[in-house]
Amino acid sequence: MYSQAKVIAGGLAHIPVVIAVFYFILTTFNKRALKFVEEAKTKKTESKAVETKKPAVLKAENSKIEAPKTETSKLAKKKHADVPVNIYRPKTPFEGTVIENYSLLKEGAIGRVNHITFDLKDSDPFLNYVEGQSIGIMPAGEDANGKPHKLRLYSIASTRHGDDFNGNSVSLCVRQLQYEKDGETINGVCSTYLCDIKPGDKVKITGPVGKEMLLPDEEEANIVMLATGTGIAPMRAYLRRMFEPTEKEKNKWNFKGKAWLFMGAPKSANLLYEEDLQRYLTDNPDNFKYTKAISREQQNAKGGRMYIQDRVLESANELFNMIEDEKTHIYLCGLKGMEPGIDEAMTKAAEEKGLNWSELRPQLKKAGRWHVETY
Ligand code: FAD
Ligand code: A2P
Repeated sequence: MYSQAKVIAGGLAHIPVVIAVFYFILTTFNKRALKFVEEAKTKKTESKAVETKKPAVLKAENSKIEAPKTETSKLAKKKHADVPVNIYRPKTPFEGTVIENYSLLKEGAIGRVNHITFDLKDSDPFLNYVEGQSIGIMPAGEDANGKPHKLRLYSIASTRHGDDFNGNSVSLCVRQLQYEKDGETINGVCSTYLCDIKPGDKVKITGPVGKEMLLPDEEEANIVMLATGTGIAPMRAYLRRMFEPTEKEKNKWNFKGKAWLFMGAPKSANLLYEEDLQRYLTDNPDNFKYTKAISREQQNAKGGRMYIQDRVLESANELFNMIEDEKTHIYLCGLKGMEPGIDEAMTKAAEEKGLNWSELRPQLKKAGRWHVETY
């Protein structure tokens, strides 16, 4: 039997052990807490450093490529915040009516490329967009698993005012995907659906999406465009905004810079919007330059197919003089496969000017002057 005194004495004897355990827990916790605070402090300083670095002038060796000034980048961000996105989503798409659908190709051309316009006036909320964005199209029918087809994206080929300048339509430039598999011709689901639709048909539209290919606001900007095939779509919208008389009256954007389009097509008969481009050239000889690479009719210096990257090399000096001007933006749109070729050409072209393209390209991108949308 324990006496009361023995119990008390036993309890008192445990006190140092309890204190030791508490002390151990407290110091361990404190050390960790301190370490955490220190880490957090370091991270904060690092991110501050990055933040303050951002608007600073970034110079590569021998280069004059500059990031936008603080005010400009803040302004750009603010403006981009106003750009409409995802007004219509796949669960609740807008059903637009086809206004027109016609071929853009001449006799003897390869494949099928159509210009297709949809009426947006009954959309509520209104499906507005700006030049350089894309819309989604949900083709009718079901896939092999009996599910509705997924949407496909298409670059918008019209300005926000539409081809008829009434501001309630959107146009696309669509190539029908066709390839051979096991001796059979396979037609792309959505591109075939789009090339086949008729005026009056209803089409499920989503979007708009995309902020990568937006035009700068500055009227003095220079715009270099590198396009293959339907990659001309956003460029057509830009060029209409710059040079189409009625569009200019509407948009009040008095473009004063230089626009230079490098266009890649397999044959002359495949050149898209050619009459409009020739008219812009005649009317704006000081502001517009148009360089074609017609792959199956022209040869590059090595005797191979002429691609836009070969044209870039031919114009290396003039092109890089433009790129060194911080008002110049470069837009690349069309075949994904052209990207390595363009990179290679830019590397060589930059070398000729004593510049390093692998350093310049990320700087141009950071400065919001290098815009790529390939597919
Ligand atoms: P699908 O039926 O979806 O077939 C495509 C699939 O076929 C491929 O995924 C591949 O698996 C297979 N395939 C394709 N080629 C071959 C081949 N040679 N051999 C074997 N298999 C093959 N297109 C335009 O025409 N105009 C535009 O302005 C345009 N803008 C775009 C913008 C963006 C941002 C993006 C991402 C894409 C754009 N596209 C544009 C491409 C478009 O979205 C579709 O991918 C294209 O129309 C093909 O869709 P489809 O439904 O006809 O083909
Ligand atoms: P090609 O098909 O003769 O090899 P379209 O979409 O109307 O077919 O036009 C695409 C154009 O881009 C064609 O002239 C095509 O040439 C060309 N092209 C194909 N592959 C590349 C590439 N890797 N780099 C640049 N241009 C390319």
